[in-house]
Amino acid sequence: MKVTSGAPDTRVDSVELGRAGESLPVLQPTLGSAMIDVRGLHKGSGRYTFDPGLTNTGVCRSAITYVDGEKGILLYRGYPIDTLVEHCDYLDVAWLLLNGELPTAVQKERFVTDITYHTMVHEQIHVIFRGFRRDAHPMAVMCGVVGALSAFYHEDLDIFDATHRKNATHRLIAKMPTIAAMAHKYALGQPFAYPRNDASYAHNFLHMMFSVPCEKYEPPAAAVRALNAILIVQADHEQNASTFTVRSVGSSRANPYAAIAAGIASLWGPLHGGANEGVLQTLDEIGTVDRIPEILRRAKDKNDPYRLMGFGHRVYKTYDPRAKVLREFCYEVLDAYGKRDDPFLKMAMELERIALEDDYFMERKLYPNVDFYSGIILRTIGFPLPMFTPQFAVARTVGWAAHWNEMVADPEMKIVRPRQLYIGSPERSFVPVGERIGHEPLVG
Ligand code: CMC
Repeated sequence: MKVTSGAPDTRVDSVELGRAGESLPVLQPTLGSAMIDVRGLHKGSGRYTFDPGLTNTGVCRSAITYVDGEKGILLYRGYPIDTLVEHCDYLDVAWLLLNGELPTAVQKERFVTDITYHTMVHEQIHVIFRGFRRDAHPMAVMCGVVGALSAFYHEDLDIFDATHRKNATHRLIAKMPTIAAMAHKYALGQPFAYPRNDASYAHNFLHMMFSVPCEKYEPPAAAVRALNAILIVQADHEQNASTFTVRSVGSSRANPYAAIAAGIASLWGPLHGGANEGVLQTLDEIGTVDRIPEILRRAKDKNDPYRLMGFGHRVYKTYDPRAKVLREFCYEVLDAYGKRDDPFLKMAMELERIALEDDYFMERKLYPNVDFYSGIILRTIGFPLPMFTPQFAVARTVGWAAHWNEMVADPEMKIVRPRQLYIGSPERSFVPVGERIGHEPLVG
């Protein structure tokens, strides 16, 4: 077993706890805020920290992705996201996220061969698909099928074997578009499209989504370019809910297919990857340009919980760098499909224009987010709404895999086991059933 941390040395400072001689170390990152290392806190003080949502807590060292929400910076392994979109395809970025450096020409060629070698799924997986209802949400299908992959590779699941880890990583990246496209085809009742290994990652995904055996299919070049850009900007976003889920499940040494199936489940939530469906639902709800002022009034009304989906971000308080990149591709795709004048998309563009000039949105730094533009692009290319989050899962798989590999190689890796602030009953005596006083059930 070979494990290396890959983490740079951190300069260690310290903070006083208030009592003479007691202090906690402070860890210095290469970028971003320093962190107080509280691992010795309980030993020294008998206290734990309380941080629901872990909003103030660093859970690991990571060298993969850096986000600065104030400045609108997103770096993969130190490279700005827009530079990567301009110069790379998705598999260049996948290699970078997994290995820390951009690939040489030889490494890239080998990687493409390794990935395309694994693009098909076992024919028995077709049988698993047939067990689902045709109207199942594709994310439900993906959770099940990706989890089931571990049943097909059970001889290859030693997480401390570097070859097993590499095989699982390649299989997951290669098979995820195949599985997502199969979920779409299954819902339509069309035959599954086998992968095209001569096509790029984005091109092949479009082929499996939209081709039928009786017709020649060639996606517009603008669609391939835009999907490649979407896949890159969605590939990683440091410790978001689904990535932390993958780390958390993986920390028990569960196999990577199980960990990533859990990541897919987490991504499905409407506060995470599921938000991209909400953007299009909002646009559908607005319907026509003349209803924009009314919808904006609702979004700004303090007494109305309504929010304009596709605007604002928890981390980015300036223009989301991912949205900035996708905006250009959005216009390119609309032109390629001759849809600049499509009433629905015209309305979306008008909403963007009006919101960007509105005082309420400007004061609160609410900009269109990544979901706003990816949603419009995907809709223009022909992705149905339920396939938006599965497409996101395809892109994020490499981020999950990079974090899982980093975690397994991390000598500080521990099973995730947080503490709680217990607010239940103190110890009490058992009451026989005839003497119990009825109470409102909490769950039922
Ligand atoms: N529409 C109207 N008002 C908004 C919106 C919005 N979309 N977003 C924030 N605000 C207002 C909010 O009411 C508050 O106003 P005030 O200061 O007067 O009380 C102020 O802006 C700050 O909002 P917040 O709730 O403190 O901001 P947050 O950082 O907690 O929320 C958010 C971030 C993404 C949950 C929120 O902006 C939102 O609900 N947006 C719509 C949903 C959406 O598009 N989500 C996709 C996010 S991008 C994908 C990803 O990376 O996960």
